[in-house]
Amino acid sequence: MLNTVRPLLLPLMFGLFTLPALAGDLEQPMKKMGFNYKQATKASDPATMEKHINQMRAEIDEAKTRQMPTAKKEKFLEGLTEVQSELDASLAALKAGDEAKAREHLAKVNDLKKEYHKYAKQKG
Ligand code: HEM
Repeated sequence: MLNTVRPLLLPLMFGLFTLPALAGDLEQPMKKMGFNYKQATKASDPATMEKHINQMRAEIDEAKTRQMPTAKKEKFLEGLTEVQSELDASLAALKAGDEAKAREHLAKVNDLKKEYHKYAKQKG
């Protein structure tokens, strides 16, 4: 009996330990998002702004696939989608040549970040 299951044990244990690591949590995409947000806000030309906003957008897509506390998952996804809408609005403003409006939408991203980080830190 043991001889039959033994070869299965190692791959099984390996799988159990590596699966959560592969799926990961929000820390990595959040760090990248924070970096690109800073780069976008301090950019002095629209092309650089656009590049970092597009990167943030992709990082949110990545964050949406990460592990989240079950009780908060729905609200987290809602917040991440709201951030993407603001980023889209910011990109649209840049395309229309309105950098000031693009920056207003970036400021709203910061408001959303504060709101949802507060929620993320709440117990339960
Ligand atoms: C609105 C939806 C958002 C949600 C639900 C959310 C959720 C979270 C959570 C749960 C963490 C803790 C991750 C961990 O350490 O395991 C975190 C950290 C962080 N988030 Fe967000 N976040 C959001 C928006 C944003 C935005 C818009 C930015 C940047 C502009 C941002 C930047 C960061 C940074 C820099 C960290 C710290 C990462 C670290 O160094 O540990 N987040 N966020």
